[in-house]
Amino acid sequence: MTNMTHDELSRLLYAQPIRLLHRLAKGQVPRFFRMGKHRIIQTLLDFPPNHRARLVADLEAMIQEGPPPKPSAKRPARLKAQEAPPKAKAPTPPTHRAIDHPLEPATSIEELLEGIGVPIAKIFKPDPWQEEAIAQLATNDVIVSVPTGSGKTYVAIEAMRRAIEADQTVIYTSPLKALSNTKLTEFSQIFGADQVGILTGDRRYNPQAPILIMTTEILRNLLYDAAGGEIDLRIDTLGLVILDESQFIADPERGVVWEETIIFCPSQSRLLLLSASIGNPDEIADWITSIRTVPCHLIHHRNRSVPLRAAYLDPSGTLSPLFRTKDITHGKGFTVHPETKRLFTDYEHQTTGPRYRR
Ligand SMILES: Nc1ncnc2c1ncn2[C@@H]1O[C@H](COP(=O)(O)OP(=O)(O)OP(=O)(O)O)[C@@H](O)[C@H]1O
Ligand SMILES: [Mg+2]
Repeated sequence: MTNMTHDELSRLLYAQPIRLLHRLAKGQVPRFFRMGKHRIIQTLLDFPPNHRARLVADLEAMIQEGPPPKPSAKRPARLKAQEAPPKAKAPTPPTHRAIDHPLEPATSIEELLEGIGVPIAKIFKPDPWQEEAIAQLATNDVIVSVPTGSGKTYVAIEAMRRAIEADQTVIYTSPLKALSNTKLTEFSQIFGADQVGILTGDRRYNPQAPILIMTTEILRNLLYDAAGGEIDLRIDTLGLVILDESQFIADPERGVVWEETIIFCPSQSRLLLLSASIGNPDEIADWITSIRTVPCHLIHHRNRSVPLRAAYLDPSGTLSPLFRTKDITHGKGFTVHPETKRLFTDYEHQTTGPRYRR
C-alpha cells in the first residue's frame, strides 16, 4: 500500500472525513483550518516524493486507528460562581477547563437561543426615530443610519405614501437586482400592483408607475440622460428618491454611482438614504448638505431591536455560545465562552497528527 500511485492516494484521501484530513495536515499544511477538503487534499498530494511515503504511512495508521475518542462528556455550560469546583491540590493538566471569570457566569446555549423565533404579535407603534425621519423628510433630505432589522423599510414606505398622496413620483433604488425584485413584490402588496414598476438590467415592468424600483446604476444613468434631455421618466414630478443599502457609497468600485446619483438628484426631490453600516454618516450628511438646496438631517443610533448573538459550531456538531454574554453589544469587549474554548482545544488535540517538515 505504501507505494500507491498518485491516483490511488487521491481516491483514498477523498474517501476520508475532514476530521482525519485535519489530523493528517496538522503540522504540515499551514492554516489547514481555513482550507476546504479539496484544497487540503491537493496540498497533501503536492508533497515531494520523499515525504509522500511518510504521508501514506501516517494515513494508513490513522485509518487503522479509527476515529479519536470523542470529547469528554458534555458539561453544563452555565457554571455559576458558587458551583465552581474546589481547586484540586493535585496537578490538574488541562488548564483550559479552569473557570477564568468566576464572577461572570457564562451564558448557556438555552439562554443564547432564548427568544429566537416569531415575536409575540403586538400593536405596531413606530419608534420615535422613525417618526422623526418621516417628519424631517417633509423639508429636508435624511440619512437613516441604524442597525439592521430596526425598521428602515417602515420609514421608506411611509415616506412613499406621503409622496404619492401629494401626487409625486418615487424612485427606490437598491444595489442588487434580487433585492429590487423582492421590493417590487413587497411594495405591490402595500400600494397595489398598478402603482409599482421596476427597471433593472433584466426587467422592465410598468415604467410609468408612480413608484419605480431600480438598481442605483440605472437611476444614475437615467439622471445622466435627464441632464441631456433624453429621459423617459417624469423627473419634474419626482418627489422622493430612496437609496437603500446606501453604505455602497464607500465601495471602491461602485461608490461613485451613489455619489453621482446624489449629485444629479433633482433639487425638488427629497433624498432618503438608508443604511445599517455607514461608518461616517455625519460626514456624508455634511457633504450632502453642502451640495444640495436643503439640509440633510441625520438619524443615527446603535440600539439593536433584533439582538445579535454569536455561537460556535464544533465539527462534531455541538453548538455553544461563542462569548460569555448573550448579546453582542456595540463597543463592548467579549470573553470567549469556556465551553467553546474547551471544544476548540479538544478539537485541536484530536487533530494533532504526526509532524514532519517538507
Ligand atoms: N417600530 C417597530 N416596532 C416593531 N417592529 C418593527 C418596527 N418597525 C419595523 N418593525 C419590524 O422590524 C422588522 C425589520 O424591519 P426592516 O426590514 O425594515 O429592517 P431594516 O432596518 O430595513 O433592516 P436591514 O438593515 O436588514 O435592511 C420588520 O418585520 C418590521 O415589520
Ligand atoms: Mg432594509
